[in-house]
Amino acid sequence: MKSTQTDDRIKIAVQKSGRLTEHSMDLLVRCGLSYSRGKDRLICYGENMPVDVLLVRDDDIPGLVQEDVCDLGIVGLNIVEESSLTLRADGATRLFEKITPLDFGHCRLSFAVPREVRYESPESLAGKRIATSYPRIVSAWLDKEGIDAKVVVFSGAVEIAPSLGRADVVCDLVSSGETLKAHDLQEVETVLQSRAALIRTPVELAPAKSQWVERLLQRIGGVLQVRESKYIMLHAPRSALKEIKALLPGSEAPTIMPLEGTDDKVAVHAVCRENVFWETLEELKEVGASSMLVLPVEKMLA
Ligand code: PRP
Ligand code: ZN
Repeated sequence: MKSTQTDDRIKIAVQKSGRLTEHSMDLLVRCGLSYSRGKDRLICYGENMPVDVLLVRDDDIPGLVQEDVCDLGIVGLNIVEESSLTLRADGATRLFEKITPLDFGHCRLSFAVPREVRYESPESLAGKRIATSYPRIVSAWLDKEGIDAKVVVFSGAVEIAPSLGRADVVCDLVSSGETLKAHDLQEVETVLQSRAALIRTPVELAPAKSQWVERLLQRIGGVLQVRESKYIMLHAPRSALKEIKALLPGSEAPTIMPLEGTDDKVAVHAVCRENVFWETLEELKEVGASSMLVLPVEKMLA
């Protein structure tokens, strides 16, 4: 399948307003994108890369990418999953080419019941009316558990369904849990763990465009890696080097340098591919490390 787009600029679909908007734009900026907003404020035009960002409803993102209106999209795995089930049921054979999980937008899709209701197991859902914006995911889960219940579709404000008498149970996204609490609902069962992900059109892109997409993917990989990585510097007794190396989280080959005026101590510098917590520093101290410094990493390219 060849791209139907004549335009050689990359279009990325991003949530217009919601939990992923700010993080998504921040990720693109960290990849080097600077942009100006169109008059209608729904398109951000890339100024230094052939990349434009379309701000749309999150539920529309998978469809736009699958139909090749956009080349890439940043959207929650919850919506990717619901849309995939819908698109497949509608006969689509090719959905998204690539799904890269990102490091923000963590939440979960969970069942919740009014606080006074006792919930013991999935069996407790049998015969109940379940309000949700994720009917396909919920139905598939109920099928898998062998439970017969009625799914009531709400496109928003799912959490008010029980107090309106429209449902007995809700199945909705939970992040901090504040929304459930505010509606006297208790979370009882998790159906899906979600976070933001990058999806890509199933259509083959023109070479120039494809090159830019590859470059962008590589930069995104670099940004994610950097956010997790730390540069650590410390002094260590030569005799404890083995133990110290073993304690450095996710570091490959640390640089070992002599220290002026002493033979039994060295300086160790290393890139840690995981965050360095206080606990790690305390363990390093216990085996003899001193003068420890942990620095953020600015950019990284393998
Ligand atoms: C979800 C969900 C709840 C809220 C839960 O909506 O529908 O309203 O977030 O978050 P909390 O546990 O931190 O209170 P979302 O903002 O994703 O909007 P949408 O589902 O309408 O797109
Ligand atoms: Zn939404």
